[in-house]
Amino acid sequence: MADTWEDLERECGQCRGCALAERRTQVVFGTGSRTAEILLIGEGPGRNEDLQGIPFVGAAGQLLDEMLEMIGLDRTKVYIANVVKCRPPGNRDPLNTEQAVCLPWLRRQTALLRPKLIVCLGRIAAKAIIKEDFRIAAEHGQWFQRGGVYLTAIYHPAALLRDLGKRPETFEDLKAIQGKIREICSKTELSVP
Ligand code: URA
Repeated sequence: MADTWEDLERECGQCRGCALAERRTQVVFGTGSRTAEILLIGEGPGRNEDLQGIPFVGAAGQLLDEMLEMIGLDRTKVYIANVVKCRPPGNRDPLNTEQAVCLPWLRRQTALLRPKLIVCLGRIAAKAIIKEDFRIAAEHGQWFQRGGVYLTAIYHPAALLRDLGKRPETFEDLKAIQGKIREICSKTELSVP
């Protein structure tokens, strides 16, 4: 039988598929509109996300909110999820094995959402979702297409907090994403002219 969001969230909340489950406070399933045309994919929960059960609620999340606002979006107009749903200890990168075990949840979320546009936030998400050999410095802002869905990646907001020099090119990427939304996301109203 086809998934429903409710069943999927309940099932995911009980997942013990890898060792990350042992240390988590909460599964961070995802947030936003379940009818959004735009899916944002991060890497995995940090400390604040693990405590609150919501993606991107720490400093990087605050910057993400500002980035969305710059192009007329907010969290009610997108869906946000991560490659792994449980916090890797010490905020290390999720292991390939952890990603492999966790990715079916994201695939099922994507199948329910049927987004028109997927934006990967950072290298880990881009490698997991767009292509294994994705190079974020060289390929951020480029467009890929799969099954009628447009995919792109931008620098992770945490990288933009560490390195202000990456912000101008990210602004260009965001403007291009805004243009693509105007072109293909007919249900998404942007709150800027
Ligand atoms: N970084 C991520 O990639 N995801 C989050 O949810 C928070 C920080």
